[in-house]
Amino acid sequence: MRYKDKHQLAAEWQTLLERTPKPLRQAVETLVESHGDYFADHFYQVMLEDPHASLFLSNEQVEQRLNPSMRRWLKAMFAVDHADFASLVEQQEKVGQVHARIDIPVNLVLNGARQLNRRFISRSTPPSKARCRRGMLRCMSPTISIWPWKL
Ligand code: HEM
Repeated sequence: MRYKDKHQLAAEWQTLLERTPKPLRQAVETLVESHGDYFADHFYQVMLEDPHASLFLSNEQVEQRLNPSMRRWLKAMFAVDHADFASLVEQQEKVGQVHARIDIPVNLVLNGARQLNRRFISRSTPPSKARCRRGMLRCMSPTISIWPWKL
């Protein structure tokens, strides 16, 4: 059973993100668009080197499906002007179901989110480095926490 319905989650997500000034969200969107490949590569490199996480993954699956899926996910989640929050909640719900179905532990997913965050921050560049860092922290937190894992 859901903790909140889809519309409540969408409204909450929208409120949280709209508290982040638009220029900050745009800096994050630009960062994700220009470094999406790097973020996805790094994410799966860390997961494949992790003895626990790698039990759920194969190189072939990562190259053929998961890496492109991650790039699409990043683009959709951090797009500023096309943000339809109800549809984003639906996408998160679907991704959550996929992970729940194969019993990926939440601690591994949270570690994944931390890895993404670290790379976002390391890729933020001057003169917008500080702006990107702040934007990233403020956008990533609601994005990753509004994720209905078990339905
Ligand atoms: C922030 C963390 C994570 C994000 C954003 C993420 C994102 C995604 C996305 C977008 C998909 C594609 C879903 C679809 O088919 O539409 C996916 C699938 C998958 N992810 Fe993740 N993932 C995360 C963490 C993890 C972790 C930690 C693991 C393993 C240790 C993992 C393993 C998988 C596997 C095996 C699939 C394919 C499942 C299937 O199709 O049966 N993911 N993930």
